[in-house]
Amino acid sequence: MSTKIIFTSATGNTKEAVELLEEALQDLDQDVEVFDAEDGVEVDEFFDDDDANYVVASWSDGDNGEVPGGIVDFYDDLDGYDLSGKKVAVLGTGDTSYPHFCAAVDIFAKLLKEDGAELVAEPLKIELAPDDDAIEKIKDLAKTLAA
Ligand SMILES: Cc1cc2nc3c(=O)[nH]c(=O)nc-3n(C[C@H](O)[C@H](O)[C@H](O)COP(=O)(O)O)c2cc1C
Repeated sequence: MSTKIIFTSATGNTKEAVELLEEALQDLDQDVEVFDAEDGVEVDEFFDDDDANYVVASWSDGDNGEVPGGIVDFYDDLDGYDLSGKKVAVLGTGDTSYPHFCAAVDIFAKLLKEDGAELVAEPLKIELAPDDDAIEKIKDLAKTLAA
Protein backbone atom coordinates (compact mmCIF):
# COMPACT_ATOMS: atom_id res chain seq x y z
CA MET A 1 0.00 0.00 0.00
CA SER A 2 1.18 3.53 -0.61
CA THR A 3 0.42 6.77 1.19
CA LYS A 4 0.49 10.27 -0.26
CA ILE A 5 0.92 13.09 2.23
CA ILE A 6 0.38 16.79 1.59
CA PHE A 7 1.42 19.25 4.27
CA THR A 8 2.04 22.87 5.07
CA SER A 9 4.34 24.09 7.81
CA ALA A 10 5.64 27.55 8.71
CA THR A 11 7.97 26.90 11.66
CA GLY A 12 8.63 23.17 11.22
CA ASN A 13 6.32 21.45 13.75
CA THR A 14 3.96 20.00 11.16
CA LYS A 15 6.88 19.13 8.89
CA GLU A 16 8.43 17.21 11.80
CA ALA A 17 5.17 15.33 12.40
CA VAL A 18 4.98 14.46 8.70
CA GLU A 19 8.59 13.24 8.68
CA LEU A 20 7.85 11.03 11.69
CA LEU A 21 4.79 9.62 9.93
CA GLU A 22 6.82 9.03 6.76
CA GLU A 23 9.48 7.13 8.75
CA ALA A 24 6.87 5.10 10.63
CA LEU A 25 5.17 4.13 7.37
CA GLN A 26 8.49 3.20 5.76
CA ASP A 27 9.28 1.03 8.80
CA LEU A 28 6.05 -0.81 7.93
CA ASP A 29 7.25 -1.30 4.32
CA GLN A 30 4.84 1.27 2.92
CA ASP A 31 5.62 3.48 -0.06
CA VAL A 32 5.29 7.15 0.86
CA GLU A 33 5.21 10.31 -1.23
CA VAL A 34 5.30 13.69 0.52
CA PHE A 35 4.22 16.96 -1.08
CA ASP A 36 4.69 20.47 0.29
CA ALA A 37 1.46 22.35 -0.53
CA GLU A 38 3.51 25.48 -1.16
CA ASP A 39 4.90 23.78 -4.26
CA GLY A 40 1.43 24.20 -5.76
CA VAL A 41 0.18 20.60 -5.95
CA GLU A 42 -3.19 20.38 -7.73
CA VAL A 43 -6.03 18.43 -6.09
CA ASP A 44 -6.45 16.09 -9.08
CA GLU A 45 -2.68 15.41 -9.25
CA PHE A 46 -2.62 14.57 -5.55
CA PHE A 47 -5.71 12.32 -5.44
CA ASP A 48 -4.75 10.43 -8.60
CA ASP A 49 -4.35 6.90 -7.22
CA ASP A 50 -7.42 4.77 -6.45
CA ASP A 51 -5.44 2.42 -4.22
CA ALA A 52 -3.44 4.89 -2.12
CA ASN A 53 -4.15 6.30 1.31
CA TYR A 54 -4.01 10.05 1.67
CA VAL A 55 -2.97 12.31 4.55
CA VAL A 56 -3.55 16.05 4.82
CA ALA A 57 -1.38 17.79 7.45
CA SER A 58 -1.61 21.43 8.46
CA TRP A 59 -0.88 23.85 11.24
CA SER A 60 -3.63 26.29 12.26
CA ASP A 61 -3.47 30.01 11.62
CA GLY A 62 -5.54 33.05 12.65
CA ASP A 63 -6.95 33.95 16.07
CA ASN A 64 -10.09 31.90 15.56
CA GLY A 65 -8.44 29.09 13.63
CA GLU A 66 -7.93 29.24 9.91
CA VAL A 67 -6.40 27.21 7.13
CA PRO A 68 -2.90 28.69 6.57
CA GLY A 69 -2.04 30.51 3.35
CA GLY A 70 0.38 27.77 2.30
CA ILE A 71 -2.44 25.26 1.80
CA VAL A 72 -5.46 27.51 1.23
CA ASP A 73 -5.48 27.11 -2.57
CA PHE A 74 -5.54 23.33 -2.15
CA TYR A 75 -8.32 23.70 0.42
CA ASP A 76 -10.38 25.96 -1.87
CA ASP A 77 -10.01 23.52 -4.78
CA LEU A 78 -11.18 20.66 -2.56
CA ASP A 79 -14.53 22.35 -2.03
CA GLY A 80 -17.04 20.28 -3.98
CA TYR A 81 -14.41 17.85 -5.30
CA ASP A 82 -15.56 14.22 -5.43
CA LEU A 83 -13.44 12.11 -3.08
CA SER A 84 -15.76 9.11 -2.84
CA GLY A 85 -13.78 5.92 -2.42
CA LYS A 86 -10.67 7.75 -1.17
CA LYS A 87 -9.21 6.83 2.21
CA VAL A 88 -7.97 9.89 4.02
CA ALA A 89 -6.48 10.88 7.39
CA VAL A 90 -5.92 14.35 8.77
CA LEU A 91 -3.29 15.53 11.21
CA GLY A 92 -2.04 18.86 12.40
CA THR A 93 -0.10 20.74 14.98
CA GLY A 94 -1.50 23.63 16.96
CA ASP A 95 -1.24 25.47 20.23
CA THR A 96 -3.77 24.97 23.03
CA SER A 97 -3.41 28.61 24.07
CA TYR A 98 -5.57 29.54 21.05
CA PRO A 99 -9.38 29.38 21.42
CA HIS A 100 -9.78 26.70 18.74
CA PHE A 101 -6.99 24.14 19.07
CA CYS A 102 -5.95 22.68 15.71
CA ALA A 103 -8.89 24.35 13.96
CA ALA A 104 -7.47 23.58 10.53
CA VAL A 105 -7.58 19.85 11.32
CA ASP A 106 -11.31 20.10 12.03
CA ILE A 107 -11.87 22.30 8.97
CA PHE A 108 -10.10 19.81 6.66
CA ALA A 109 -11.76 16.77 8.23
CA LYS A 110 -15.21 18.34 7.71
CA LEU A 111 -14.55 19.25 4.07
CA LEU A 112 -12.99 15.87 3.21
CA LYS A 113 -16.04 14.10 4.66
CA GLU A 114 -18.38 16.43 2.74
CA ASP A 115 -16.44 15.49 -0.42
CA GLY A 116 -17.24 11.83 0.28
CA ALA A 117 -13.82 10.68 1.53
CA GLU A 118 -13.61 7.96 4.14
CA LEU A 119 -11.73 9.16 7.22
CA VAL A 120 -9.76 6.06 8.20
CA ALA A 121 -8.58 7.43 11.57
CA GLU A 122 -9.61 10.01 14.12
CA PRO A 123 -8.04 13.35 13.19
CA LEU A 124 -4.70 13.63 15.01
CA LYS A 125 -4.07 16.91 16.84
CA ILE A 126 -0.56 17.54 18.13
CA GLU A 127 0.56 20.27 20.54
CA LEU A 128 3.43 22.13 18.82
CA ALA A 129 6.45 19.88 18.09
CA PRO A 130 5.64 16.18 18.56
CA ASP A 131 6.56 14.86 22.04
CA ASP A 132 6.86 11.18 22.99
CA ASP A 133 3.11 10.81 23.38
CA ALA A 134 2.49 12.38 19.97
CA ILE A 135 5.16 10.18 18.40
CA GLU A 136 3.29 7.10 19.66
CA LYS A 137 0.06 8.46 18.16
CA ILE A 138 1.83 9.07 14.85
CA LYS A 139 3.08 5.46 14.91
CA ASP A 140 -0.48 4.27 15.62
CA LEU A 141 -1.72 6.29 12.65
CA ALA A 142 0.96 4.68 10.47
CA LYS A 143 -0.25 1.22 11.59
CA THR A 144 -3.85 2.13 10.73
CA LEU A 145 -2.80 3.38 7.30
CA ALA A 146 -0.67 0.29 6.66
CA ALA A 147 -3.40 -2.16 7.74
C1 LIG B 1 -0.72 33.80 13.68
C2 LIG B 1 -0.90 32.46 14.33
C3 LIG B 1 -2.17 31.98 14.57
C4 LIG B 1 -2.36 30.72 15.16
N1 LIG B 1 -3.63 30.27 15.40
C5 LIG B 1 -3.80 29.05 15.95
C6 LIG B 1 -5.11 28.52 16.18
O1 LIG B 1 -6.13 29.15 15.92
N2 LIG B 1 -5.21 27.28 16.74
C7 LIG B 1 -4.11 26.54 17.07
O2 LIG B 1 -4.28 25.42 17.56
N3 LIG B 1 -2.86 27.01 16.87
C8 LIG B 1 -2.68 28.23 16.32
N4 LIG B 1 -1.42 28.71 16.09
C9 LIG B 1 -0.27 27.89 16.52
C10 LIG B 1 0.32 27.07 15.38
O3 LIG B 1 -0.68 26.34 14.70
C11 LIG B 1 1.36 26.09 15.95
O4 LIG B 1 2.44 26.84 16.47
C12 LIG B 1 1.84 25.10 14.96
O5 LIG B 1 2.52 24.05 15.60
C13 LIG B 1 2.74 25.71 13.90
O6 LIG B 1 3.05 24.69 12.98
P1 LIG B 1 4.31 24.75 12.02
O7 LIG B 1 5.56 24.75 12.91
O8 LIG B 1 4.21 23.52 11.21
O9 LIG B 1 4.20 26.00 11.23
C14 LIG B 1 -1.23 29.94 15.51
C15 LIG B 1 0.08 30.43 15.25
C16 LIG B 1 0.24 31.67 14.67
C17 LIG B 1 1.64 32.16 14.39
